Amino acid sequence: MLQRSIVFFIVIAWIQTGGLCLPIREEEEPVVIELQNEEMQPTVLDCDYTLNDTDSFLTVKWFRDDKTIYQWIRGSPPAPIPDYKNDIDSSYESSTDPNKRYSSLALINPTIDTTGDYKCVVQTGTETITIHQRVQVIDVRNYTLNLYHNKIHNETQLECKVSNVFPKPTLTITSNDEDVVKVVTNDPQENEDGYFNATTVVAVYDNDDDADSYQCVVSFKGYSKNLTTTETSSSDGSLIDFKLYRLGWFLCYLLAIQIAIF
Ligand SMILES: *[C@@H]1O[C@H](CO)[C@@H](O)[C@H](O)[C@H]1NC(C)=O
Ligand SMILES: *[C@@H]1O[C@H](CO)[C@@H](O)[C@H](O)[C@H]1NC(C)=O
Ligand SMILES: *[C@@H]1O[C@H](CO)[C@@H](O)[C@H](O)[C@H]1NC(C)=O
Ligand SMILES: *[C@@H]1O[C@H](CO)[C@@H](O)[C@H](O)[C@H]1NC(C)=O
Ligand SMILES: *[C@@H]1O[C@H](CO)[C@@H](O)[C@H](O)[C@H]1NC(C)=O
Repeated sequence: MLQRSIVFFIVIAWIQTGGLCLPIREEEEPVVIELQNEEMQPTVLDCDYTLNDTDSFLTVKWFRDDKTIYQWIRGSPPAPIPDYKNDIDSSYESSTDPNKRYSSLALINPTIDTTGDYKCVVQTGTETITIHQRVQVIDVRNYTLNLYHNKIHNETQLECKVSNVFPKPTLTITSNDEDVVKVVTNDPQENEDGYFNATTVVAVYDNDDDADSYQCVVSFKGYSKNLTTTETSSSDGSLIDFKLYRLGWFLCYLLAIQIAIF
């Protein structure tokens, strides 16, 4: 990650110092917006440009997935595009510099449709500057996550189900014994409203009598927080064994401390 960032900045530095004739910059990390139930602060995307030529006209346009959603012509108030007037706070002033005053995009009322590839295009009589920025919305306000298990002899089947999340999740089932052997993962299903459901089924073989604890982890690309649920197999009384086993370790630990002290 760090290495990639370093390479990225070297490339950017090279582009900026004139290594390429096009002044294009690529932002590496997407801006992540996690939806909340309460009122949210605007998400501001800055269009970070430096102009040579400040004498001729200047326009700044913002696009989402190649559709124009906002534009500003220096000397005029910003012109919201009617379809997006509830998505953008066009009164947001990004700078006191008259060449940048309304150049940022202030996203308000985000929904999962706010996700997209954004770019700002700055144009003067002699220059065009394009800056890209990816925005990824995460919505886990209303999800359900369940891990079911069914033990038949030495095989345990585990099924993890998540529903109503955005974007596409990745499900991973792990076992404290590391004995997950068979994995069947289906592609996440998209609901009509754009949210996803997903299911993963695994089979686990287990020959000892210890209780096992299983975890299902739901993760999203580019987002560090996971959703997690844990299940402990307690069939045929093995949960008690598990507790005794833990107690055994605890006693050993106490003994070790005693030995260490005296
Ligand atoms: C920007 O300024 C540099 C030097 O200051 C000049 O070489 C270059 O041609 C200018 N670019 C444009 C597009 O005016
Ligand atoms: C959560 O889901 C329930 C039932 O599916 C729905 O009625 C409710 O509006 C949802 N809430 C949010 C914040 O999406
Ligand atoms: C599971 O148990 C069956 C019979 O009880 C045995 O034949 C099989 O080898 C066991 N499987 C594993 C992976 O231990
Ligand atoms: C996703 O899960 C929800 C709740 O379990 C269910 O109502 C819905 O039908 C599922 N959608 C799909 C496409 O399977
Ligand atoms: C989230 O889950 C992914 C995949 O299982 C894992 O690589 C990552 O370390 C987890 N992150 C956290 C904060 O637990």
